[in-house]
Amino acid sequence: MNKDVLKLLDLSSDDIILILDTADRLKAERKSGKKHDFPPGKTLAMIFAKNSTRTRVSFEAGISQLGGHGIFLASSDSQLGRGEPIKDTARVLSRYCDCIMIRTFDQEEVEELAKYSSVPVINGLTDFEHPCQVLADLMTIREHRGRLGGLKACFIGDGNNVANSIIAGCLKCGMDVSMACPDGYWPDQMTLDFAKGVTGSKFVMTYQPEIAAAGADVVFTDVWASMGQEVESEKRQKAFQGYQVNDSLLALANPGCMVQHCLPAHRGEEITEKVFEEHAGEIFDEAENRLHVQKAIMYLLMKNS
Ligand code: CP
Ligand code: NVA
Repeated sequence: MNKDVLKLLDLSSDDIILILDTADRLKAERKSGKKHDFPPGKTLAMIFAKNSTRTRVSFEAGISQLGGHGIFLASSDSQLGRGEPIKDTARVLSRYCDCIMIRTFDQEEVEELAKYSSVPVINGLTDFEHPCQVLADLMTIREHRGRLGGLKACFIGDGNNVANSIIAGCLKCGMDVSMACPDGYWPDQMTLDFAKGVTGSKFVMTYQPEIAAAGADVVFTDVWASMGQEVESEKRQKAFQGYQVNDSLLALANPGCMVQHCLPAHRGEEITEKVFEEHAGEIFDEAENRLHVQKAIMYLLMKNS
């Protein structure tokens, strides 16, 4: 493992499998009441420049279950909100804490934080990637289907942070990936270039949801307007018509196809209420697995520190 988890593009297939195996073990230990074998008293600083329910609570609960402590820092009410450079924040927090988690806008800010931090940095979502989310998704798919390799993942909607992480994470785990996004809303070019170079797994990028969904084993979607894009909501509502996960789309997928949604969901937009509720078991397993996967990341990054 590298020092940090900044994007799935950086992780090797072996790193991802190690995180998933560790997450399975920590989940089993928690369910059976077994104490985790982890050095006590580790401190995690959690910087948030955007809203959060799952990431905030699962990281804070996770570090506490590992015998450590989480410190919540809203950018807006820390000195970051008054313009203190991220590289100075990195050097200060590194002197107090054993790990830093950050949710912000620019990926470059996270990369800069990691460059100047002497302790591990974890990306809790940027506009570019949401690595912890897709690691939880992969854990959930493996739990439900017993494997990842050879399955077909489909994503319908906005080629955003979640979509970028799905491309990198699923292809690195030997899954085929088929993605349908409207013109102007395709994933990041760096991620598409990575996908082009992958051999062994198949990657298809299309404007047509029906092509992407055909023969899928798992269908993903995400909101049409992500955090920070609220002013574009009306324009996006129009652009994404037809890019909804509904019964007619799922009829094209393989029988027993899973549905994954990072949450929060906008029912009636990217997913229907009916499909959401029929797949709620899988979707809330996915939300739960954020806890286990992030504990695994913290375990692997801090266990020897
Ligand atoms: N999926 C996810 O990251 O949720 P939050 O925005 O609530 O953290
Ligand atoms: N794409 C969404 C994911 C939220 C967890 C956003 O960035 O707002």
